[in-house]
Amino acid sequence: MTQQALISVRNVSKAFSVEGRLVQAVDNVSLQAREREFVALIGPSGCGKSTLLNLIAGLMEPDQGEIALRGDRQTERLGRIGYMPQRDGLLPWRRLLENVTLGPEVMRRDLPAVREQALALLPLFGLQGFERSYPHELSGGMRQRAALLRTLLCEQEVVLLDEPFGALDALTRRTMRDWLLGIWERFQRTMLLVTHDVDEALLLSDRIYVLTPRPGRVALEIDVPLPRPRHEGLLNDPLFASSRESILTALREHDG
Ligand SMILES: Nc1ncnc2c1ncn2[C@@H]1O[C@H](COP(=O)(O)OP(=O)(O)O)[C@@H](O)[C@H]1O
Ligand SMILES: [Mg+2]
Repeated sequence: MTQQALISVRNVSKAFSVEGRLVQAVDNVSLQAREREFVALIGPSGCGKSTLLNLIAGLMEPDQGEIALRGDRQTERLGRIGYMPQRDGLLPWRRLLENVTLGPEVMRRDLPAVREQALALLPLFGLQGFERSYPHELSGGMRQRAALLRTLLCEQEVVLLDEPFGALDALTRRTMRDWLLGIWERFQRTMLLVTHDVDEALLLSDRIYVLTPRPGRVALEIDVPLPRPRHEGLLNDPLFASSRESILTALREHDG
């Protein structure tokens, strides 16, 4: 790897104490994401994916190993990494515009300027005309897009996405996937996506880490050999099929 990694996770382990028992969630995981790279983490439920994101975001510290931002282990990561957790986290009592500007508001940035920026981005996020709506008045896809807009408005260079489309129906998922590709191309951020959908990982990412069931270890790392821009037609590409097969094999080998 010639270019320095933006995020680098080295030999990280994390265990939790659950009712007096030690549960190893993440075991000796190493991974990296370069500048503007789209990286996916794929693995079965409970294998430590959300824990890994929490560690990377700086919400908790690893028991062993280290996490560096631009090669610096000392940097405070909390607040420098955008994180869209598994649940959208929109505040039910705030209207859409006040929800998406929450991050910058907490960071005490120039609120009128941020509101203007948010309003200008609403069409791209399919939210135009809904700025005064409450979360319960929005569809699942709209809420996820609002949550991502809120994360992007914080202007951090890395964005962590934890199964952002997990709760959506298949059709909405597909639309959202294409839309997210467009967002990534336009905003030029480094993205780290957690998913358990193999096709989604292949269509979106530059690199994929396949994790084993708990405790999560890296079972396979693949560079996705597909050209960009990506499109649904690639699903029938032989390269797509062979990559999918390697991932499924890695997932099966470690199953049960
Ligand atoms: N704060 C916590 N306290 C205790 N156990 C936890 C905590 N967070 C996660 N775990 C446990 O760690 C394991 C991995 O969880 P998680 O990272 O949420 O997996 P995934 O996101 O891959 O489904 C699970 O067994 C879960 O119960
Ligand atoms: Mg999770």
